[in-house]
Amino acid sequence: MRWLVTGAAGMLGRDLCAVLAEAGETDVVAAARTDLDITDPAAVREAVEGIDVVLNAAAWTDVDGAETAEEAATAVNGHAVRMLAGAAGKRLIQFSTDYVFDGEATRPYPEDTPPAPVNAYGRGKAIGERAVLAAGGYVVRTAWLYGEHGPNFVRTMLRLAAERDTVDVVYDQYGPPTWSYALARQAVALAGAATAGRAAPGAYHGTAAGSTTWYGLARAVFAEAGLDPVRVRPTTSDRFRRPARRPAYSVLGHDGWTGTGVAPLADWRPMLTAAMPALLRDRPGG
Ligand SMILES: NC(=O)c1ccc[n+]([C@@H]2O[C@H](COP(=O)([O-])OP(=O)(O)OC[C@H]3O[C@@H](n4cnc5c(N)ncnc54)[C@H](OP(=O)(O)O)[C@@H]3O)[C@@H](O)[C@H]2O)c1
Repeated sequence: MRWLVTGAAGMLGRDLCAVLAEAGETDVVAAARTDLDITDPAAVREAVEGIDVVLNAAAWTDVDGAETAEEAATAVNGHAVRMLAGAAGKRLIQFSTDYVFDGEATRPYPEDTPPAPVNAYGRGKAIGERAVLAAGGYVVRTAWLYGEHGPNFVRTMLRLAAERDTVDVVYDQYGPPTWSYALARQAVALAGAATAGRAAPGAYHGTAAGSTTWYGLARAVFAEAGLDPVRVRPTTSDRFRRPARRPAYSVLGHDGWTGTGVAPLADWRPMLTAAMPALLRDRPGG
């Protein structure tokens, strides 16, 4: 199979490339932003020619920045994705986000929940999703992503642990901390299932099972790093005002995987234990 990975220098993009290499896939075009700008229609059309699977990990991911630059964010997360979907159709696997939902639920969001984003980033991603689904492609929503390659909450906690005695972390947002490498493996498995006709086009949820708060995750990170979790102190979101509103509840359901032969992701806590050696390798980072 011939693969195209866009956003290949990003956190998820790098893990997708690693997973494909580990799977023995040799026909992989790994396109960083400097190789392929997904907002360039001619370049996108040319890039997808002869490709069997497009894994689109390119995105505007500055959630707060999107509030004052919604047009620019939506150009990447909405309009470029529409173009990519038009060119690749069912060959496209698009990554999306829990931020397409309002966060007001009290039980995990099923895959077919209508999007109702509460911030500019979510609105752009929802436009992208809609286009992919209309073109018969695949949408994999993820959330609370952390990984070896790139700034993320887990690496930030490791850095702060080295800099401060205590760290205040919010305990009023719920979500599923998800390792980008585990998601990359699942997405590559989905591509296999799609090609084999076992997975219908549509929305899937690529998030860890279970959930916690950012406070709970921070404590787990400290424990994993051999540090005292008591150094993490609970606080509330109103003490950390940020430009973009965050959904309070970001837990996603996983029924969509049934019958595909692709396993839902593991519980977030053992997943974190499995991820820690890679995350601690180049600490403090982040
Ligand atoms: N991180 C999370 O917590 C999280 C949560 C939910 C969903 N997601 C989704 O997961 C996916 C992967 O995110 P990530 O965390 O790996 O993000 P990331 O590390 O920021 O990677 C995104 C990559 O896309 C590139 N990019 C930006 N604009 C582009 C363009 N016009 N053309 C080509 N490439 C472009 C970026 O390049 P530059 O660095 O040069 O700008 C970056 O390398 C995204 O779809 C994101 O929306 C992430």
